[in-house]
Amino acid sequence: MKRAICPGTFDPVTNGHLDIIERAAAIFDELVVGVALSPDKGRGPLFTVEERVGFIRDAAAHLHNVSVRPFDSLLVDLARESDARVIIKGLRAVTDFEREFQMAQLNYRLDDDIETMFIMSIPEYMYLSSSAVKEIAAFGGNVRGLVPDQVSDQLQERLRQGR
Ligand code: PNS
Repeated sequence: MKRAICPGTFDPVTNGHLDIIERAAAIFDELVVGVALSPDKGRGPLFTVEERVGFIRDAAAHLHNVSVRPFDSLLVDLARESDARVIIKGLRAVTDFEREFQMAQLNYRLDDDIETMFIMSIPEYMYLSSSAVKEIAAFGGNVRGLVPDQVSDQLQERLRQGR
């Protein structure tokens, strides 16, 4: 049984994340998507961890070997606890590389039984990020096709409320 962890803040999940989740789920027997609470990130996440988990559960409901869970711990601890030896991350442009390389090195230092593996983004999603989606939506731009429809609706609603 090969199980992998796909971690992130997912605030909110984008179609780029979902593409990586789908491709990883096709390689591993089981994929656990770990949604970090990340309370310290910038002004704090726009969506609660429950909302972020819910968006991914709904969008990945057709992937029967994918489970989604929140976490507030070291990633390597979540991996060990989930009995997963592989961390899957998506890699977009070279700008991602330095941060991802640092996290992979630190995680390896923390537990060298756990390997980080990268799946390259497809060109369509190369420049897509949760923060860009939030910025576009905040200025009234159209984010359909960049995130699941449910997320797009909730984004407009949340930003209308002024947060
Ligand atoms: O979507 P993000 O912001 O790139 O995800 C970052 C995340 C959640 C994978 C990273 O912050 C993380 O692993 N957090 C858990 C705490 C941890 O293990 N930190 C040490 C390794 S850098």
